[in-house]
Amino acid sequence: MTWKESFTLASTPSVIFGSGKLMVLPELVQAWGRRVLLITGGKSLVGSAHWTGLIEQMEAAGISWWQYAVLGEPSPAVVDRAVAQFREEGIEVVVGIGGGSVLDAGKAIAAMFCETASVKHFLEGVGDRKPSGKTLPYIAIPTTAGTGSEATKNAVLSEVGSSGFKKSLRHNRFVPAVALIDPSLMLTCPKHITAYSGMDAFTQLLESYLSKEASPFTDALAIEGLGYIADSLPSVVEQGDDLFAREQVAYAAFLSGICLANAGLGTIHGFASSVGARIPIPHGALCGTLMGISNRLTVEGLNRTDAAWHKYERVGRLFTQEAGKSSEYYVMGLLDQIEEWVESFELPRLSHFGLEKEEIPNIAAATSNKFNPVQLSEEERQFILQTRL
Ligand SMILES: [Fe+2]
Repeated sequence: MTWKESFTLASTPSVIFGSGKLMVLPELVQAWGRRVLLITGGKSLVGSAHWTGLIEQMEAAGISWWQYAVLGEPSPAVVDRAVAQFREEGIEVVVGIGGGSVLDAGKAIAAMFCETASVKHFLEGVGDRKPSGKTLPYIAIPTTAGTGSEATKNAVLSEVGSSGFKKSLRHNRFVPAVALIDPSLMLTCPKHITAYSGMDAFTQLLESYLSKEASPFTDALAIEGLGYIADSLPSVVEQGDDLFAREQVAYAAFLSGICLANAGLGTIHGFASSVGARIPIPHGALCGTLMGISNRLTVEGLNRTDAAWHKYERVGRLFTQEAGKSSEYYVMGLLDQIEEWVESFELPRLSHFGLEKEEIPNIAAATSNKFNPVQLSEEERQFILQTRL
């Protein structure tokens, strides 16, 4: 364990966790009003029995609802369009039900109902203003176990292209009012999305655990979450209808959100921003595909006496579950396990999403290393991209 003499904790949402809990949503909404905007993804939820049941209950409770679908990772235009379309409806509560993209879009839309300018003006590193922190009450309901957006204060928005960006709208008050985590909603999540989002949660837990900003509080949550990932991630990927495993990975993903909000992330999430701005790649696919080689280079840069080495060793013990081996054995065992999952979960290479070799130097130069326990050089960052091209 590492001690830290000072640290801060962001607020966490009120949490409702459990299979079947979606049905308490009408009651939750009524705490704030009767006019609700539901932000959803494409067709999968809307075509399901969960949706039909929810709508029936909302209407029985006298709640008026509007729906806005977000397809793919959200851009500022997607957020601005929703606000313009529904501003006159007197929306009192915003609910996001979907994967990380939907939850982030909903978080931004809830906040932008309280502003008059485009969300682009408030994005870190893009805009010229700071958000006021005002937001409509926001309820986040994840249908994938990945980003942990239900627990965080930021929403990631992007425009993809040669002058693209992938940046956050962030404010302490943008933490959702409620995170309603119903693992039964994840049972039908397709295999590849389960793998992508699960590897995102895994990356977030490991990077925040190893982060220079980690605290005793985030360490406790991260190691707990990593244990659930070790036990249950292969089950949810290979056997999606395993509810017990879905519950464990959903909880791990939620913990990963709290950890990243309080400890920061490492080089892999630096790539999420720089690569994600250049090519349309799902965030979890990017994290997963880079996870093996990035961790291997980080480990190579550590001394055996470094705190981060001992943290790798501790995580390795969770994954190997064998007693009495050397510290080297556990650390290398973890790296091998990650690389095995990258293969067995079929994480695609970057070229699959359109990355070209010529773009690698610029992307590597634009990649942040901030909280990584080892500062990887630009050449090493190029090597990581090259290895997974
Ligand atoms: Fe992530």
